[in-house]
Amino acid sequence: MRAEPQDFGRVLSSMCTEPHPAAREAAERFLATNPGDPGTYEAVADLEERVVDDLGAIVGLDDPVGYVASGGTEANIQAVRAARNLADAANPNVVAPESVHFSFRKAAGVLDVDLRLAPLSDDYRADVDAVRELADDDTALVVGVAGTTEYGRVDPIPELGAVARDHDALFHVDAAWGGFFLPFTDREWSFADAPVDTMTIDPHKVGQAAIPAGGFLVRDESLLDALAVDTPYLESTGQATLTGTRSGAGVASAAAAIDELWPDGYREGYERAQADAEWLAAALTDRGYDVVEPTLPLVAADVPEREFEALRDAGWRISRTGDDELRIVCMPHVTRTMLESFVADVDSVRPRRNVNT
Ligand SMILES: Cc1ncc(COP(=O)(O)O)c(C=O)c1O
Repeated sequence: MRAEPQDFGRVLSSMCTEPHPAAREAAERFLATNPGDPGTYEAVADLEERVVDDLGAIVGLDDPVGYVASGGTEANIQAVRAARNLADAANPNVVAPESVHFSFRKAAGVLDVDLRLAPLSDDYRADVDAVRELADDDTALVVGVAGTTEYGRVDPIPELGAVARDHDALFHVDAAWGGFFLPFTDREWSFADAPVDTMTIDPHKVGQAAIPAGGFLVRDESLLDALAVDTPYLESTGQATLTGTRSGAGVASAAAAIDELWPDGYREGYERAQADAEWLAAALTDRGYDVVEPTLPLVAADVPEREFEALRDAGWRISRTGDDELRIVCMPHVTRTMLESFVADVDSVRPRRNVNT
């Protein structure tokens, strides 16, 4: 029997989405190409250069350097790896806020560096003083998040960059999810706003490319050189990526999605998603739930376990934060109609005594 994937009609928890039709078509066309071997697969290698240039425009980086990674996890591991390879310290450490994605725990384990997690401020953003307290002469990397996984918060990026500079450490910004929303906000998050050295920004999330298409960008070539190994049997001579054979489908679909959507399509998508998130936050607040206000299109709300499970039983794909709040991500496939139908189901599962409206 032919297996079919899920449809997106009730998916509210994912940070991935349906690819743009042009991205889907390009992915299929480039299925049998390998940007990991650019000497042989030249067409996809050219496309990858285009993607890096386009990502540079999105993140405010002139003369961008980088590549299309398998996802945010690889890009974050590479940021830690570059910092570790360039560090003078015998036992380098990485300082990051507690809200950092769990890929940094993988990076620390794989690379054998000490990961120091700083507590957050009351607004769920990195507490700069706490980060400063943890940083020392052995700090190789400071991390800030521009669009946190659980609450969609943007850390104080310029201030964290200053902490990194004070300790001669590199500064990484993880904009894996937020990077395609943030150009349309007044937040300070980009290479143009702060002394950022490396950044994660994933086309296969809000960028609407097919999976796998992550983005790893660096301020200058030397940071990528710090990752390169010799590649004797390939037509090219060195490789800075973590994986060897890579997905040409991911690269081509990222190029196609960005061609179609940057900047107007992404701007419209952001405005719609943000309005929807604010609508949902208001609807849940009206019904008596404690809601964490969405600064980007992500809503967290304190929904009791029983109601959460009833909504899952009704077919909604929803997830929880570490503190057990319901978490809803307004990705491009999430429409107002979907959210209205979700709220109608909330009404049917919640106890009547909560009614305020
Ligand atoms: C902020 C952030 N960074 C990194 C990642 C990891 O990305 P991936 O799942 O593509 O490896 C995620 C995933 O949701 C994320 O939200």
